[in-house]
Amino acid sequence: MMTRLARILSDRSTRESVAARVEDYERRYGGESRGGRDERRTDYRNFENTYYDLVTDFFEYGWGQSFHFAPRAANETFAASLARHEHYIAHRLGLAPGMTAVDLGCGVGGPLIEIARFSGARIVGVNNNAMQLERAARRSEAAGLGHLVEWLKSDFMQVDAPDGCFDAAYSIEATCCAPDRAGVYGEVFRLLKPGGRFAAYEYCLTDRFDFDDPEHRRLRADIEHGGALPDIVRPHVVNDALRNVGFELLEARDLAVEAPPGVPWYQPLVGSGLSFARLRSSAAGRRVTHGSLWLLERLGIVPRGTTQVSSLLNLCAAALAEAGRLGIFTPMYFVHARKPD
Ligand SMILES: C[S@@+](CC[C@H](N)C(=O)[O-])C[C@H]1O[C@@H](n2cnc3c(N)ncnc32)[C@H](O)[C@@H]1O
Repeated sequence: MMTRLARILSDRSTRESVAARVEDYERRYGGESRGGRDERRTDYRNFENTYYDLVTDFFEYGWGQSFHFAPRAANETFAASLARHEHYIAHRLGLAPGMTAVDLGCGVGGPLIEIARFSGARIVGVNNNAMQLERAARRSEAAGLGHLVEWLKSDFMQVDAPDGCFDAAYSIEATCCAPDRAGVYGEVFRLLKPGGRFAAYEYCLTDRFDFDDPEHRRLRADIEHGGALPDIVRPHVVNDALRNVGFELLEARDLAVEAPPGVPWYQPLVGSGLSFARLRSSAAGRRVTHGSLWLLERLGIVPRGTTQVSSLLNLCAAALAEAGRLGIFTPMYFVHARKPD
């Protein structure tokens, strides 16, 4: 399995710049102060783009084309749980043929392609990362969905599209990358037609998060640093920001808490005893990948800096798994809001 990641990494057009870029990322955002929230906010375009240029190959290798978590029932496959989480958002928005929606922070297009196929709605994927969009466009063409799908390279804080041009909008684990929630939600509000609806899965701290607990604060800082997140907030910040820009809040709840007994959302990061199905993303699988990359980097087969990127992702994965186990963080705070008529 390592051969595939090594091939992907060594084919990269940015091969020469991996070491310089990961060092730049670490110097600016990963130091003692971890860059500080202010720097991550003001410099968010560079912060996000540097990170996603570096990690996209790893995400695709370890997780697939949908870069998000999902509640998972016992006996449900990982792939089925991701698709169900995507279908749920489409279902709550009532996406159907004849509607046009926007996906903010669409990644490499895994969820968008699935949702377009599932709903028959036309969907515009917005992303600020050119490399991810090129991959997304190749996939939608290969899937024969060119007529339903469009890709737009744009910052979701200032989308290059006219007011009121969408029937619906959604975002899956992406508006958490925004430098401020009111800014991105205000932009969604502008883009929607009156009566249009927005739904999102947000990263949030839960009520169990204790700002006085140094271990909780460390886990939050590791997730922000290793996941390129300017600031992980409490649910009330999300709710207030949606209301303050003019939305009527229809639903707001943590799907991780409501999930039926099954496999916790963070389980793929931990690994489960006898299962080899999610080995790549598990702690053991990540150790194997990391060790192999260390060797391949020394042999000059993968670009210099690759092992440092792997360390960054392992920092994030370990913190996510521990924060999930402690119940202090959720990647699936679900919000559903409506722009008044
Ligand atoms: C965790 S990924 C989720 C991707 C996708 N929604 C999915 O579930 O597969 C976050 C995405 O947000 C994008 N993103 C971050 N900041 C952005 C911005 N300011 N404008 C547009 N896209 C952004 C990143 O490039 C990345 O694709």
